[in-house]
Amino acid sequence: MTEKIRIIGGKQLKGEVSVSGAKNAVLKLMAAALLAKSETKLYNVPELTDVIIMLNVLEQLGAKVQYNKIEKSIVINAENLTGVRASYELVSRMRASFVVLGALVGRCKEAVVALPGGCAIGERKVDFHIKGLETLGTTVKIENGYVHAKAKKLIGGDIYLDIPSVGATENIMLAAVLAEGATRIQNAAQEPEIVDLANFLNAMGADVNGAGTSEILINGVKQSDLHGVEYTTIPDRIEAGTYATAFIATKGKGIIKNIFPGHLTFYTSKLTKMGADIKLLDPTSIEVSCKKRLEAVNIITQPYPGFPTDLQSMAMALATVANGVSIITESLYENRFMQVPELRKMGADIHQERNHALIKGVKSLTSANLRASDLRAGASLVIAALMANGESIIDNIYHIDRGYELLEQKFRMIGADIVRFNDDEPDVVNQNKGNLSESKL
Ligand code: EPU
Repeated sequence: MTEKIRIIGGKQLKGEVSVSGAKNAVLKLMAAALLAKSETKLYNVPELTDVIIMLNVLEQLGAKVQYNKIEKSIVINAENLTGVRASYELVSRMRASFVVLGALVGRCKEAVVALPGGCAIGERKVDFHIKGLETLGTTVKIENGYVHAKAKKLIGGDIYLDIPSVGATENIMLAAVLAEGATRIQNAAQEPEIVDLANFLNAMGADVNGAGTSEILINGVKQSDLHGVEYTTIPDRIEAGTYATAFIATKGKGIIKNIFPGHLTFYTSKLTKMGADIKLLDPTSIEVSCKKRLEAVNIITQPYPGFPTDLQSMAMALATVANGVSIITESLYENRFMQVPELRKMGADIHQERNHALIKGVKSLTSANLRASDLRAGASLVIAALMANGESIIDNIYHIDRGYELLEQKFRMIGADIVRFNDDEPDVVNQNKGNLSESKL
């Protein structure tokens, strides 16, 4: 059974969108819950395939989990872990599950976690994660596709990251919480998801300082200091940015609610530069609109607080119809222009050389049959299809389901003509379907 999305574009989007909990935060909080020998409850948990995979990973390790989809909460009881092995079958489906490595090393002093390998957008190495754990006294071997990590005891140390890697910062933080003494991470990632993880760990009884800056200091605590907590996940800044882009792309006007606008500053400032109007309504919502043709823009993706790589493809969709020539440079991943050939099918004029894309804005895009290659490339095709007159079909939407809760429902609420359908029964369109179908879990 292949699910696809059909979009009839050319409609102005109007209304309000409420943003869900952040995928890239909640997955790490779920792993962090393994550190406490008691029950943790997380709120604002989006219903996404990646969340389900992480629940499966936690269950594989012996944690008891309960997912309340109505309340959007998860209860994780990690009192008795029965294993330290996260299987290839699960980790290969969702590389963020590699973050259980740090939590297991911290809690059990041992972990066997499948190496996630590369993915569509790049090589995505984990050498900094491993070097960081070694600095804390862990012996790490790679055998048969698995990372085997073991430590007699963890001792804090100084770690300098060559790149402010989000995942490496998180894995090291998780292991360091229960190390003896202090761990200092220099050139640490500063993303809001790192701050959320630090706040969560501190609520559990950990001692983490400096998250959100380039230097994080973790003073080790004892296992008995850690306890389960109730905690609400931060809003998804990338989902927020995606809906902001959609309103602007369709010359519409809308309110994006339940967000932390400060997490989006770099993106919204570029949108404003292109000609969009963005107003802060209150501390958790913005109003976005655009009346005129957008102007071209130059973008270089950078670690937070720079321009987010996860919104690069969205900005490119806008640039395809902007006035003038835009240059986009992707500096984090080797292969994050997978949307380019698909956008070209719609009439976009894009010249790509290695990690640079030169986009000459055209008057409008045309509809086409499209294929999502990864999560964010897929989301940019949704934006492009919403702009193009006529019917576009997007295939491989399981990629998009990894990061956007109730995508069609949210877009329909703001006036989009979008439906999900099963390719085997093209006329049977289930308009009320959620993101998660049994076949994908
Ligand atoms: N890198 C290394 N060695 C390492 C770790 C990273 O060379 O040991 C390189 C990577 O290959 C990559 C760069 O450093 O080129 C940045 O990787 P980072 O570790 O920061 O990214 P990540 O933790 O794997 C998270 C998000 C990504 C987001 C990036 C950057 C999650 C689950 N994923 O990935 O989100 O693009 O940070 O902000 O948190 C997405 O949501 O679509 C997504 C890909």
